[in-house]
Amino acid sequence: MARDALKATLGPLQLRTPLIAASGTVGGVWEWAEIADVSKYGAAVAKSVSPTPWEGRPPPRVAPTEVGMLNGIGIQNPGIEQWAQDMEARISSSAVPIWGSAVAGDPDGFALVAKGLDSAGVTAVEVNLSCPNLEDGEMFSFSALRSRQVLESVSSAVGIPVGAKLSPNTPDIVAVATACAEAGASFFVLTNTALGFGLTRDDRKPLLSGGVGGYSGPGLKPIALRCVYEVSRALPDVPLVGCGGISRGTDIIEYLIAGASAVEAGTIHLAEPRAGSRIIRELEKEMRRLGVTSVAELVGTLEDW
Ligand SMILES: Cc1cc2nc3c(=O)[nH]c(=O)nc-3n(C[C@H](O)[C@H](O)[C@H](O)COP(=O)(O)O)c2cc1C
Repeated sequence: MARDALKATLGPLQLRTPLIAASGTVGGVWEWAEIADVSKYGAAVAKSVSPTPWEGRPPPRVAPTEVGMLNGIGIQNPGIEQWAQDMEARISSSAVPIWGSAVAGDPDGFALVAKGLDSAGVTAVEVNLSCPNLEDGEMFSFSALRSRQVLESVSSAVGIPVGAKLSPNTPDIVAVATACAEAGASFFVLTNTALGFGLTRDDRKPLLSGGVGGYSGPGLKPIALRCVYEVSRALPDVPLVGCGGISRGTDIIEYLIAGASAVEAGTIHLAEPRAGSRIIRELEKEMRRLGVTSVAELVGTLEDW
């Protein structure tokens, strides 16, 4: 396969491969980079960070389900000030570009975190809109207006590319994506986890201490692919990162055909932290089988019936 065959372009960002490690599944990236072959990744996203320290939810915070898993970590993190202090040197010496992820209860909080991430040296910042806002307690991603306010605030605060990460439960994902694109989003991550719930029959308790949590893994793939498909149809010029249930090279090809320019893999890293090498090997094998010589050739090539 030619040297540049795996290169991906995501709006203003050039990636050496279309595979990105998703936020929350590779820690602060540096720990994971000590054991994984990060040369197989175009970027890796650190765990979301908030304006002040968040303790997260009490255990149990993760639980396997028949297919995939539930998590309700509650975005445990040390707050942006401490994070930036701990991460600056690690980011500058990282063998893989590190992206940051911002979370907050209001637009000013998102901007504060994004500035801190930028000053610590991240290549891009994801705005995690799958958290509740302070005013009405609803997920930002559910409202075009609130998502727009966050994107306006963050994009005027930083000079690096800003990506909006949306929930697959967003009622009108095209309307929200349109609002975020107008407010300066350089790319989208579609999607975060879906709302999920599980319980035990024996003690009749929820699987997670917080009750409802985020569902991820292979079962999320058709749901997130639907989001990529619909947003790509409505906004063909907006760069998309597909995310949901990616565990094999063939999954990447499907997301690219549906309209994504790159993908993020999350849950697979919890079971197989070194998955990237295998996934990229499988991607190259499938590209050869399909007679495709570059990743870019696949993007948005879905045919109608
Ligand atoms: C344990 C765990 C923690 C996560 N933490 C975050 C987070 O802090 N910020 C975020 O934007 N997404 C977070 N996610 C969501 C993932 O980044 C990803 O969007 C989601 O899991 C779907 O991809 P997957 O099916 O490949 O896991 C987390 C997912 C898991 C499983």
